Amino acid sequence: MTIQTIATTPFAGQRPGTSGLRKKVTEFQQPGYLENFVEAIFLTLGDCSGRTLVLGGDGRFFNREAVQTILRMAAAHKVAKVLVGRGGILSTPAVSCVIRKHGANGGIVLSASHNPGGPDGDFGIKYNIENGGPAPEKITEAIFAHTLTVNAYRISDAGPVDLDRIGTTQLEDMQVEVIDPVADYAELMERLFDFDAIRALFSKGFRMRFDGMSAVSGPYAKAIIEGMLGAPAGTVINGEPREDFGGHHPDPNPVNAAELVALMDGADAPDFGAASDGDGDRNMIVGRRLAVSPSDSLAIIAANATLAPGYRAGLTGIARSMPTSQAADRVAAALGIPCYETPTGWKYFGNLLDAGMATLCGEESYGTGSDHIREKDGLWAVLFWLNLLAATGKSVNQLVEEHWARFGRNYYSRHDYEAVDAEAADQMMGALRGKLAELPGQDLGGYTVQLADDFVYTDPVDNSVATRQGVRIVMTDGSRVVLRLSGTGTEGATVRIYLERYEADPARHGLDTQAALAPLIAIAEQLSALKARTGRQQPSVVT
Ligand code: G6P
Ligand code: ZN
Repeated sequence: MTIQTIATTPFAGQRPGTSGLRKKVTEFQQPGYLENFVEAIFLTLGDCSGRTLVLGGDGRFFNREAVQTILRMAAAHKVAKVLVGRGGILSTPAVSCVIRKHGANGGIVLSASHNPGGPDGDFGIKYNIENGGPAPEKITEAIFAHTLTVNAYRISDAGPVDLDRIGTTQLEDMQVEVIDPVADYAELMERLFDFDAIRALFSKGFRMRFDGMSAVSGPYAKAIIEGMLGAPAGTVINGEPREDFGGHHPDPNPVNAAELVALMDGADAPDFGAASDGDGDRNMIVGRRLAVSPSDSLAIIAANATLAPGYRAGLTGIARSMPTSQAADRVAAALGIPCYETPTGWKYFGNLLDAGMATLCGEESYGTGSDHIREKDGLWAVLFWLNLLAATGKSVNQLVEEHWARFGRNYYSRHDYEAVDAEAADQMMGALRGKLAELPGQDLGGYTVQLADDFVYTDPVDNSVATRQGVRIVMTDGSRVVLRLSGTGTEGATVRIYLERYEADPARHGLDTQAALAPLIAIAEQLSALKARTGRQQPSVVT
């Protein structure tokens, strides 16, 4: 075994996006592409001697190969120890959990989250810091800077590590410990939630369907929901991780989890439906004929949090991303705690969680989580709902409707225009930004504009500033239209339009969401001229 120094030249486009570097598998398969990025991570970390890292991914195509390469590079960079999930598998929340529990210095997550997998699909890599959360921009930018100048990488020429056997082996001077990917995570969940009450619920015949979407959360859901909580076998469907996710698009929303939604709409619907995404950090909550909007889910969890043992002491604060609906703000106001508004991207929650300023966080993009780790956590949200259902004896629908009756309903929808010509999208956003100054005070489609800006966030902990985080047009009644370009797409640009309208009157809580938002949809088109600029007549996905 020797450590080699291999000459390389930089690849363009290795700047991490909202959630690490995501590209087509074919791009990652170019000789040196993965190695350059990993070298840039190690150059950013500096001296790694004595350090412990965690490594794992969602099991998609190229996962195993990437794990072996990264292990050989970690050894060459004098890392003392790497904890790697058996089979190279660790969900994103499990990586965060393992980093924190074992006091590791950081970790590498291999995933492109909900993006399709397989040889023609996507792959991704991101670095998490010692608090278990995604690296802040300061670090991702430093990694990017190194990718521009990297001219060599170091790698051991050792053979592959056996990833399928639990235990410790040696690679150069580095220890590789293959761990059970589920154990630490399951133990944490058992401390946060009332497993006895949930077990009792299942023993009374409560029926649930969890769709693992052939991605990483299957083994976790099986071990916890069917194993520890006693739900009948078959409760978890699509529970085996597959390299191509069985050809599915593992993004838990009513469009991609159509099978689950159809089941919950049917005559023989179980009591509760849920799904998670490729790497296990997203969640979708479904009642009978009701897909709970992620923004509502955050607000409902917040309003009822003290029913779960891990949150009995109450919440210090709530944080949501800017485009997420303001439903959580109303709960925070009622609880007398602050609600923080951050840019899109889980990394922006890290400082608030570390400082103890927020306990719960959530995003409209089907992400919910808390200070138990530093990633969003799909199964955690599902277990939280199970805990609420067990503690109250109510159904999903009852919890949602009672919440609206108490706090009012924030009608909410997101319209995505995927794989749009990037230049047209940039020009559209540029033109929109140019109009913002003149909008306040204007009447638009029955609304009066109160505020129009491009969201700027100043982190209250370290005072770092993030600019250009999305155009928001806020009306005098709190209704909003938000437009931004996705930071996670891999093809052209994805335009996201977020629409929100508040309705206090319970008599009007049963409207069709798209109909309720129609005037705001028209305002978005009027201001952006999206149809003319992109040639698109319809959104590709509506959630
Ligand atoms: C990932 C990130 C989230 C983000 C979502 C959508 O899941 O972890 O924090 O909300 O992507 O991001 P995008 O930039 O595509 O709207
Ligand atoms: Zn994900």
